[in-house]
Amino acid sequence: MKVIAINGSPRKLGNTYNALKIMEQELISANIDFEILEVGNKKIHGCMACRKCIENKNRKCSIDNDIVNLAVEKISEADGLIIASPVYYSGIAGTMKCFLDRTFYVAGANGALFRQKVATTVVAVRRSGGSTTFDALNHFLNVSEMIIVSSNYWNIIHGRNEGEATQDTEGVQTLKLLAKNMAWIINMKEATKLTIPPPEFVKKEYMSFIR
Ligand SMILES: Cc1cc2nc3c(=O)[nH]c(=O)nc-3n(C[C@H](O)[C@H](O)[C@H](O)COP(=O)(O)O)c2cc1C
Repeated sequence: MKVIAINGSPRKLGNTYNALKIMEQELISANIDFEILEVGNKKIHGCMACRKCIENKNRKCSIDNDIVNLAVEKISEADGLIIASPVYYSGIAGTMKCFLDRTFYVAGANGALFRQKVATTVVAVRRSGGSTTFDALNHFLNVSEMIIVSSNYWNIIHGRNEGEATQDTEGVQTLKLLAKNMAWIINMKEATKLTIPPPEFVKKEYMSFIR
């Protein structure tokens, strides 16, 4: 069993990273492997709306010079996904947004590659904009048939300088519990995979209203 975590912060050891490390401890103790993919500190172009991923159906974005195509494969092979971002102007940090648009579009265009994976989102914020960013991140999971895990509060941890978030005791508890719930659902899904088969893939219907 494996969880891939996407760190959308350009600060390698920042609060988003620390939030993921808090979750890692819980997942590892539940025998789940954990890998962080650094995204926020990379150069990642936004989606060009070329629709090549839909035309080619080769599980690839046509921009093939960054981490997106590797991430599509890694997430497709994993059992769980965490997408984590710092809050920038009450929203997802820019590079992370570029990454998510392209990665999830490729996955959707190729038969919902991430469907039925266990997933959650995490936000690091100094003060304000945590909930809007949390909502924005969740839109990617909600449209991808993912099994979304929750905690006893919204998955937001507070801090400004690198590492400060570890002092947010409520945020730390939220994320530990989130990771425990995530591990439980992943292990339960694995244990029942032969006895309770998942629903079959349904091709998405489009109704655009404009003709
Ligand atoms: C460009 C930029 C925009 C930011 N916008 C906000 C904001 O809207 N609200 C807020 O509370 N903090 C804001 N922050 C602070 C970060 O969200 C905060 O420091 C967070 O802990 C950073 O996470 P990191 O250490 O993982 O990068 C901003 C920081 C930067 C660099």
